[in-house]
Amino acid sequence: MSNDIFEPRRIIVTGGCGFIGSNFVHHVVREHPGVRVTVLDKLTYAGNPENIAGLPSDRVELVVGDICDAALVDRLVSETDAVVHYAAESHNDNSIADPSPFLETNVRGTYTLIEACRKYGVRYHHVSTDEVYGDLALDDPARFTEETPYRPSSPYSSTKAASDMLVRAWARTFGLKATISNCSNNYGPYQHVEKFIPRQVTNLIDGARPRLYGDGRNVRDWIHTEDHSSAVWAILTRGRVGETYLVGADGERDNITVLREILRAFGRPEDDFDWVRDRPGHDRRYAIDATKLRRELGWEPAHTDFAAGLAETIRWYRDNEPWWRPAKEATEARYRAQGQ
Ligand SMILES: NC(=O)c1ccc[n+]([C@@H]2O[C@H](COP(=O)([O-])OP(=O)(O)OC[C@H]3O[C@@H](n4cnc5c(N)ncnc54)[C@H](O)[C@@H]3O)[C@@H](O)[C@H]2O)c1
Repeated sequence: MSNDIFEPRRIIVTGGCGFIGSNFVHHVVREHPGVRVTVLDKLTYAGNPENIAGLPSDRVELVVGDICDAALVDRLVSETDAVVHYAAESHNDNSIADPSPFLETNVRGTYTLIEACRKYGVRYHHVSTDEVYGDLALDDPARFTEETPYRPSSPYSSTKAASDMLVRAWARTFGLKATISNCSNNYGPYQHVEKFIPRQVTNLIDGARPRLYGDGRNVRDWIHTEDHSSAVWAILTRGRVGETYLVGADGERDNITVLREILRAFGRPEDDFDWVRDRPGHDRRYAIDATKLRRELGWEPAHTDFAAGLAETIRWYRDNEPWWRPAKEATEARYRAQGQ
C-alpha cells in the first residue's frame, strides 16, 4: 500500500522530558537531521530536563509549560508542522490515589492540543496505550488488534481512552489530520523509578529486596522504547491520516519472569523478593498484534532480544545513579503508604 510521505521540519513533542518522550527526542535528533524539536513539558515529578540535556540547542528547544494552557499551545502550534503528543499523567497507582490530574492533563490537555491543531491545520500524532483495551485472560490466545473494543480498567487507562475518543471524533467531525498509536509496555533508559522494571533494579542496586504485586503472573508485552520511537516516526511520516496503529514487539512475559531475569542479572537467588498486596483492578494480561503496522509501514522492532535489552537497561541505571537517586526515597515512601 503506498502512502504519501509527510516530511515535517519542525515538530512539537509534548512530554519530551518524560521517559518515552525524551527517548523519542533523542531518536529524532539522531535519525532525522533536518528536524527541529520544541519540547513542551510542564516538568511534573515525572519530567526531568536532564533527559534531553546535552542535545544540540539549534535542534532542540525546551518550553516549560502546561498543555492545558490554551494561549501557549495556540502560539506554539501556529509555528509548527506537527505535534507528537506524549505528555500525560502515566502511572496507574497514582491514578488510583488521585484521579484528578489524570482528567486534567490526559483529557483537557489533549482537547487543548487538538483544538489548536485543527485551527492551524497542523498534523497531530496521539501517543496512547494498549491499556485502553482492558485486559485478556491468561489462557486466552487472543491479542489486541485495532478492532478490539475499548474496555479500560483504571482511572489512568480510562482517561487515555477518553483522549483517544476525542482525537477520533475531531478527525471525523473537523477533519483533524491525526494518527493514533496504542503501544504496549516500554522499557529502557530514563524511566521513572516508580515503574516496574526501574523500581526493581534500583531496589537491587540499593541492596533492598524487590517487591512483587499479587501473584506475579500478570503478563505485559514488553517493547524497547527505541522501537516505540521508530514506530511513532513511521506512523507520523508514512501512516494514513485518521488511522490507528497498534505498536508491539511480541514481548509477552509475566512479571515474575521479568523479576527473575533481573535477580539473575544481579547474581541473586530467584526467590529473593517480597510479595506485596495487589493493585486494585490490576489488568491480567496485555498482548499486541502489530500486523497492521508491520505490513502497511514495513516497521520492524530492532531490539528483539529482551535479555540483552534488559541487561543494557540495568547497566544504564547502574551508571546513572545521580539521575534516579533524587526521586527514589519519595517514590518508595509513596508505595509504603499504599502498602506496596
Ligand atoms: N510507559 C509506557 O510503557 C507506555 C506505554 C504506552 C503508551 N504510553 C504513553 O506514552 C506517553 C508517555 O509515557 P511515559 O511513560 O513517558 O510518561 P512519563 O510519566 O515518564 O512522562 C510524562 C511527561 O509528561 C509531562 N507532563 C505531564 N503533565 C503535563 C502537562 N499538563 N503539560 C505538559 N507536560 C506534562 C511530564 O512532566 C513528563 O515529562 C503517555 O501518553 C503514555 O500514556 C506509555
